[in-house]
Amino acid sequence: MRIAYLECTRCGEHLSADRPQNVCPKDGGVLYVRYDLASLEGKLRRGDLSGRVASMWRYAEVLPDAKPVTLGEGFTPMLASREHPNVFIKDEGLNPTGSFKARGMSAAVTMARHYGLKKLAAPSAGNAGGALAAYAAAADLEAYIFMPKDVPMANRMECDYYGAHVTLVDGLISDCGRLVAERKDKEGWFDVSTLKEPFRVEGKKTMGYEVAEQLGWKLPQGIIYPTGGGVGLIGMWKAFDEMEELGWIGSERPKMITVQAAGCAPIVAALEAGKSASEMWVGAATFAAGLRVPKAYGDYLILDILKKSGGLALAVSDAEILEATRHWAKVEGIFAAPEGAASLVAYQKLLDTCFFSPDDTVVLFNTGSGLKYLDVLDTKDAQAAGPPASRAIAGIIGPY
Ligand SMILES: Cc1ncc(COP(=O)(O)O)c(C=O)c1O
Ligand SMILES: [Zn+2]
Repeated sequence: MRIAYLECTRCGEHLSADRPQNVCPKDGGVLYVRYDLASLEGKLRRGDLSGRVASMWRYAEVLPDAKPVTLGEGFTPMLASREHPNVFIKDEGLNPTGSFKARGMSAAVTMARHYGLKKLAAPSAGNAGGALAAYAAAADLEAYIFMPKDVPMANRMECDYYGAHVTLVDGLISDCGRLVAERKDKEGWFDVSTLKEPFRVEGKKTMGYEVAEQLGWKLPQGIIYPTGGGVGLIGMWKAFDEMEELGWIGSERPKMITVQAAGCAPIVAALEAGKSASEMWVGAATFAAGLRVPKAYGDYLILDILKKSGGLALAVSDAEILEATRHWAKVEGIFAAPEGAASLVAYQKLLDTCFFSPDDTVVLFNTGSGLKYLDVLDTKDAQAAGPPASRAIAGIIGPY
């Protein structure tokens, strides 16, 4: 629907959505898209959704009014766990480009094309770059992507195949972000970094709509979300507020749980210290590439949501993540991204500490496909188990 205005999440300032905007010019606050939802009340009912397109664009009325750049993203399966009776796995690995980043980039590139922008730039831990490259290709726009030089091979290759301009950086995503910021004005790039433009949140918020719709409009007791920049967590929370305004749900909310890697856990540290913003994490290291975000731009939003929802943030080790990736594959038939498998580790810990009871309905987000991490997992497995001969594969026979 028509956007009423963009609202700064820090100072409340209203900005026009008639032209492209990044962050609040006054204080750098993240901008939220606001619609006149009251005008939809009674006109758009939950039941109206049935039979609509099985993509995130089924929620067109609560998304910007522009012709979508779509590859079929969203409306991913909500799978009942075979292991834990009240757990659901939201399998975002089935999105185009194999991760939930497709949702945010579909919305961001849709609006970029709508505004007539031609060159988009972003730093990426890997999957966001792949998604940006794919949607830019679909919209015939140019993409400039900066990624750490050790991103999973799939990310580097997909960006290349989609025709993006890729720069590999000997550093972290924060260094990549700095490079985009330094060069964008001179180069005429529009910055679509996480939370530095308003529409990636709009795309990712559709996960919140789907959680509600797919669970029969009854929100779960908990949602576990692997958090790097936190866009999905922020987006889902926004979706819950919007749905309440539409009269689709009540005031109940799930406990929102952030899971991070022990080697890069700035949100966990900030929450434990009772701070409202995080410190830059020094020496960030984890094989779950998407969780290697030393400082999230929207940290203040994430921390606020964790507190308001009665949730928490916890860190899990790379060894635990690796084991959970294999476990999920074996037990559920889901080959998850390591970031996604971190959700399972977190769930197990929250069961052990009785934070959740086995009767609580909890949604675990698998944010991507393990198929994008073959090189990373192979290396990790080799480190964990020694030479290939000692691993599960029996060996090579022949030649014949
Ligand atoms: C598979 C996967 N999971 C989780 C994340 C973290 O997402 P966010 O930055 O939205 O918190 C990423 C980010 O790159 C990712 O690629
Ligand atoms: Zn502001």
